[in-house]
Amino acid sequence: MDVAAHRDEQLDAFREDVLQGLDRPQKSLPSRWLYDPRGCELFEQITRLPEYYPTRTETAILKEHAADIAEFCGASAHLLEYGAGAGIKTEIVVGALHNPRTYVPVDIAGEFLDMTAQRYRRRFTNLAVKPIVADFTADFSLPAGILGEGRRVAFFPGSTIGNRNDKEAGLLLQRMRRQVGPQGAAIIGVDPKKDRSVLLPAYDDRAGVTAEFNRNILVRINRELEGQFPAAQFRHSARWNEAESAVEMHLESPVDQVIAVAGRGFAFRHGETIHTESSRKYEIKVFSELARRNGWHTQRLWTDPLRQFAVFGLV
Ligand code: AVJ
Repeated sequence: MDVAAHRDEQLDAFREDVLQGLDRPQKSLPSRWLYDPRGCELFEQITRLPEYYPTRTETAILKEHAADIAEFCGASAHLLEYGAGAGIKTEIVVGALHNPRTYVPVDIAGEFLDMTAQRYRRRFTNLAVKPIVADFTADFSLPAGILGEGRRVAFFPGSTIGNRNDKEAGLLLQRMRRQVGPQGAAIIGVDPKKDRSVLLPAYDDRAGVTAEFNRNILVRINRELEGQFPAAQFRHSARWNEAESAVEMHLESPVDQVIAVAGRGFAFRHGETIHTESSRKYEIKVFSELARRNGWHTQRLWTDPLRQFAVFGLV
């Protein structure tokens, strides 16, 4: 598919998701729409915030256990990354692998992906880099022969799996299994459940970067769908949902108002929210069990000394 057709398709999907999501009793938007170029930039800033422990902790785990992770992957591995973005963490893994053959970064952001692919080609001259522009949250197929023979490893860091509910996460794990085959492996970053005093500030930082990241989805609706959200007035809120074991991001209307989007009007009551993202926090056992139900056995578990983050080695 060419770039323009892909963009039109994305815009239609966005409009449909927004109109449907704003019609629900609990208004909600799929979190993947947070990640337009501005959203990606803001998320990069989030990863460097003092309150946001996941990125630096996972990076430290990957560095600390790089040799062990390389051994887990085996020589001549083919690495498949879901939602690669800039592929910063993957560079640590690829750099440690013994004679890695192929790197297949999958991401919906095509331009970003090209930059990532170029960087890998320059640094790892023996590695075949084969980027795929696709939305990994939907089913996508791998071009035949793209991963070659040898062991295939699915890499999914960042606790991005936590954005999905149990059913969706299960489907994703099953698809990974199909894509790497019965002899394949997966390396998945998971954010363990921990005290709210640590969890909530990570999603509601003092500098207000997460708030801006969250509100950016309204700015995007205004720009792409002729929306009229007074974006700056919506309050960012991070909440702990015990039943879902998840931190949720919401945007709260400060007043009763009717807001136009794509030619329709949506009523908001004072204090009513739009749920924009859930970030599940798994007990180690709970994630291991979810993986087991969906075709995987936990063979390795890499963590930091404080157990703030967990990287699962699944086979
Ligand atoms: C990119 C999905 C892993 O859930 O922690 C960070 C996104 N949202 N702060 C997460 C996010 C608000 C992040 N993931």
